[in-house]
Amino acid sequence: MLQEIYQPNPHYASTAAIKNMDEYHALMNKAKEDYEGFWGDYAKEKIDWFKPFDTVLNESEAPFYKWFEGGQLNVAHQCIDRHLLTRKNKAAIIFEGDNGDQQVLTYRELAYEVNRTANMFKNQFGITKGDRVVLYMPMIPEAAISMLACAKIGAIHSVVFGGFSAEALRDRIIDAEAKLVVTSDGAYRKGNPYMLKPVVDEALSKGCECVQAVCVVERNGEEIHWEPGRDYAYNELVKNESPKCAAEPMESEDPLFLLYTSGSTGKPKGVQHSSAGYILWAQMTMEWVFDLKENDTYWCTADVGWITGHTYIVYGPLAAGATTVMFEGVPTFPDAGRCWRMVEEYQVNQFYTAPTAIRLLHKTGQDEPKKYDLSSLRVLGTVGEPIDPAAWKWYYEEIGGSKCAIVDTYWQTETGGHMISPLPGATPIKPACATFALPGIIAEVIDEEGNPAPIGEKGFMCITKPWPSMIRTIWGDPERFVKSYFGDCKKDGKPVYFTGDGAMIDEEGYITITGRTDDVINVSGHRMGTAEVEAAIKKHSNVAAVAVVGKPHPIKGEGIFAYIVLKSEESLAEEIELTKEINNIIKKEIGAIALCDDIVFVPDLPKTRSGKIMRRILRSIVKNEEITQDTSTLEDPSIVGKIESIVKSCRL
Ligand code: WTA
Repeated sequence: MLQEIYQPNPHYASTAAIKNMDEYHALMNKAKEDYEGFWGDYAKEKIDWFKPFDTVLNESEAPFYKWFEGGQLNVAHQCIDRHLLTRKNKAAIIFEGDNGDQQVLTYRELAYEVNRTANMFKNQFGITKGDRVVLYMPMIPEAAISMLACAKIGAIHSVVFGGFSAEALRDRIIDAEAKLVVTSDGAYRKGNPYMLKPVVDEALSKGCECVQAVCVVERNGEEIHWEPGRDYAYNELVKNESPKCAAEPMESEDPLFLLYTSGSTGKPKGVQHSSAGYILWAQMTMEWVFDLKENDTYWCTADVGWITGHTYIVYGPLAAGATTVMFEGVPTFPDAGRCWRMVEEYQVNQFYTAPTAIRLLHKTGQDEPKKYDLSSLRVLGTVGEPIDPAAWKWYYEEIGGSKCAIVDTYWQTETGGHMISPLPGATPIKPACATFALPGIIAEVIDEEGNPAPIGEKGFMCITKPWPSMIRTIWGDPERFVKSYFGDCKKDGKPVYFTGDGAMIDEEGYITITGRTDDVINVSGHRMGTAEVEAAIKKHSNVAAVAVVGKPHPIKGEGIFAYIVLKSEESLAEEIELTKEINNIIKKEIGAIALCDDIVFVPDLPKTRSGKIMRRILRSIVKNEEITQDTSTLEDPSIVGKIESIVKSCRL
């Protein structure tokens, strides 16, 4: 297939960290020839160690790999304190509120705030090394400050996205056995206040005995319930603390944070990341993939509740000494020019967002970019889901003025940082293609036997060598860790890390991600486990069986489509009522992000005689595709036709 290729802009390439493909190949060859030497050299150069490490990689308990053992460091020191010598007055965080509030924190100011908060966690709440702290926060500087304060004293944070419900929050608090919850009264969204503290109150109303205190940041000043002896005002307490706090020396492998993410089965998993390996790769990818320069202003629009917010709003940019923009609002408020107005105002050099946002802004604000001066932009990033060629082109031409590199970054919560991405100064780009593995990352598309997948054919996207920022385990469930990631794919007879994604490689070695091969749906770049949504729906007393699949959606990438079998036959009016009730349950159990786009009531699901639901058939029906699967093994083959006609009648 002939495909357009976009060469790197020579003007930027000459000063990029990796300037051409020869440099890329040289780095990759170095990694392949001497893997430990490659990583060991970077670790020595990039990290300000308190104590040097003894070994680079310990594989003796694979897949529980250990990196940089013997070394001691502190991630908050790496992200802030070490910069105070050279960058104390440089802007570390530029905050813009939904309501237009602006705040700039220099590295010195950030250091003071982090230290005060760290001292408050220690002195007021007795938090010490290894304790878990859950953060249920909006996109305000205190979210980043609290994360870094945990890192400073060696506490393990677990940020829970503010869109999750009380039930979802409770599950995560209990699983992590958190001692402290940090939250805010609420925040602002589309010009209106919204609340977070009541969700925490509800989460803590049953169970959660582990939680000793709730520390509440004031953001919108709305009235909230106050539980004496449990709730404490962040803004009051922090004022009295000293702005000095010694960094806790941490072992390389000490956990830095947990972040819960969805898998194909069961409850969300607490992905555990390390200190040294994680921060090393967060920093290196900032420099390589975003081609960061000292005076750049970098903006990633993610939320700190997701991995992108962890690695590419907080840890990566600050470790690299960058100026990072934090935005509380949404890209379409007050209009679809909000982001471009901010790019102009802050003279943003790197802009990083999800294809869903690009599609939305393309659709709702096609003429907006022209109204602003976007000439400061050099690198545009996308993440979270495949980007389609039309959105890619609009991003490239209208936002980037046909001069910026587009880095389509492929990675996951579990990988800690980018795995496959173009390099802005080096990689000739094919639109909507993640291109090549980054230097040091051994990514292979393999078939069932572990051989390279033939060119142009779908295979399993695997990372066949351990890498520093990889997931270390699933919190409290090491067996699930091994089974989830090292159970499906083997190479040379040895289990290798399988991402859960399919991919294709072309004759020039370019990698295109084809999407999840498991029961995970990608809604607006957010991972949703079908099992979780199904478990919520099953809580409705009239639901006998349910199967949830992803349905292509023009803006969100995928929407959630539920096939439901009811216990009793209902009238159409009752079915409409039930649809509402079911979505209310989902909202309560998970949050509004998991609401179903479509619910259809069917007489039965296509099950094999052993009772297994044939989801592939259900996926084909939703996509209006011809059913190629063998339906003769079904308990009732006629059910397929019945479901098809129900779905068709809904479409009309
Ligand atoms: C998908 C987000 C195509 C993929 C950082 C992966 C992508 C899941 C891309 C991880 C991309 C992420 N192209 N698909 N550039 N980036 N994905 O854990 O299916 O929230 O497995 O991490 O998003 O989602 P997660």
